[in-house]
Amino acid sequence: MPQLSSKHLLGIKDLTADDIELIFHTADNFKEVINRPIKKVPSLRDITIANIFFENSTRTKLSFELAEKRLSADVINFSSSNSSVKKGETLLDTVNNILAMKVDMVVIRHSSPGAPHFLARHIDANIVNAGDGTHEHPTQALLDTFSIREKLGAVSGKKVAIIGDILHSRVALSNIFALQKLGAEVMVCGPSTLLPKFIGEIGVKVELDVKAALEWCDVANVLRIQLERQQIKYFPSLREYALYYGINRQLLDQLDRSITIMHPGPINRGVELSSDVADSDHSIILNQVENGVAVRMAVLYLLAGIASDN
Ligand code: CP
Repeated sequence: MPQLSSKHLLGIKDLTADDIELIFHTADNFKEVINRPIKKVPSLRDITIANIFFENSTRTKLSFELAEKRLSADVINFSSSNSSVKKGETLLDTVNNILAMKVDMVVIRHSSPGAPHFLARHIDANIVNAGDGTHEHPTQALLDTFSIREKLGAVSGKKVAIIGDILHSRVALSNIFALQKLGAEVMVCGPSTLLPKFIGEIGVKVELDVKAALEWCDVANVLRIQLERQQIKYFPSLREYALYYGINRQLLDQLDRSITIMHPGPINRGVELSSDVADSDHSIILNQVENGVAVRMAVLYLLAGIASDN
């Protein structure tokens, strides 16, 4: 059976194109499974997975939990807000205590870049990064590129514009790595204050004009303004941001062809995306969410190294 090149999923940077294709191929099978009347397979029957979330989440947490349950794993959930972290326990102590309960895999979201990598160096379990600060969000990039492949038939050769708050986004970096590994062309677009200074050095086009970005691309992946990570003002007001960078119906109607709109969620409606675009036929936002379960099933299944047919 083909295997991933690592026992952890810490970032897209560490994956090969073959790893990504293997995840996609496995996710194709699981997507078929989760659309059956009986959506469950016994693949991870003997595996226990801890989801430990030190930051808020709706989609990623529920999607991992559902993926684990669809694979028949035993699941425990930890949220820092009502835990002994509040009494001063360290990350490593917390995780070692969870592992003492015979846990095989840890899915972690943390506000500190590198927290999953730190755990991978200190503990035996498989580690899956569910978002580490402004660094990487690998399963989001996998489900995003899987959704592009599903919608457009391939990722290779496609032009993808990532628009919005690139500076504070872990989704942006993981998407850039995944898209490049799969042969897409990538552009980032946003106000210069929300673009990392050296972003052009990693092989992406940089565009400040959102109309030019939309005219160039096949797919626009629109990112949230991450106010919770912004300690200073990067633009005068949300109203002004929406005026210059918000994607609305009028902008799409001016294009000479139809483009695909994506968003990792949660959406600030009326800021980065108007409702008439988010809910339009251009949008594959809910397909991304559906695909997230199949892609996460594939990642967990492959990391567990279970050699079985579904
Ligand atoms: N896309 C994403 O990571 O959403 P959540 O923060 O709700 O998990």
